[in-house]
Amino acid sequence: SIALAGFSANAAEVLWYGHAATKITTEEGKVILIDPYISNNPATPEDLRDLSQIGQVDLILITHGHGDHVGDLAALAEQTGAQVATNADLARQFVDLGWVAEDKLIRFNKSGTITPLGDGIRVVMVPAEHSSDLYHDGKLLPGGEPVGYVIELENGFRIYHAGDTGVFLGMELIGAFYAPDLALLPIGGHFTMDPEDAAWALDNLLLIPQVIPIHYGTFGAIAGTPEQLKDALGESDIEVIDLKPGESRTFTLDDAEAEAPADEPADDEEE
Ligand code: NI
Ligand code: MN
Repeated sequence: SIALAGFSANAAEVLWYGHAATKITTEEGKVILIDPYISNNPATPEDLRDLSQIGQVDLILITHGHGDHVGDLAALAEQTGAQVATNADLARQFVDLGWVAEDKLIRFNKSGTITPLGDGIRVVMVPAEHSSDLYHDGKLLPGGEPVGYVIELENGFRIYHAGDTGVFLGMELIGAFYAPDLALLPIGGHFTMDPEDAAWALDNLLLIPQVIPIHYGTFGAIAGTPEQLKDALGESDIEVIDLKPGESRTFTLDDAEAEAPADEPADDEEE
């Protein structure tokens, strides 16, 4: 992360609604919503399911076309006037379906970087290993390819939201090239990584110091748990942040620096 000595402001607040739905509030008060499956999300606490309570949203990011990720997109795009960014092909479906106004839509693709909230916040699209078709009105519509995002905030704090994904070797590139401070990773299994997959990916490919497990427990088939992730990580220094749906956590740049794995073991440390 960027070194800002003596800088004590909060790097980011991350609210997890349950499943993949996540709200990031930045230091300067910008609000980014990812995969807003909220009003019908069985994991989301009742009071948060009321979309009229959601307040300001500046940017909505969609990882892929599945219903448990596009969720409340149409309603929230209209209600909030937020910009909406997603893969270039799924974006066309959103316009055709009338879910997002063309002038609010940002079409981009993997490795692309956008700065829709000003130069301070950069959103990079990264690959995910999954599928992305959009099932609507009894028809299966092409949805391009599934993706994740690395979001760099004003203060340099970087968050990787993996979307739905299995383990893939490109995670090594994401970890090394974008060096995220925090990962949100699916652990439910069946449609995505399970806890053992996620632990292996964290330890061997991503090397990201803090992880919020997502996409588990919403339905019976996605049964992985944060406890299983912790067990699978064993002695690893990677911190599992076990949020309950509806909970948020505020991150500081100090957290990011304190949690970064040391390059060399200290002299008095046993190998
Ligand atoms: Ni999916
Ligand atoms: Mn999903």
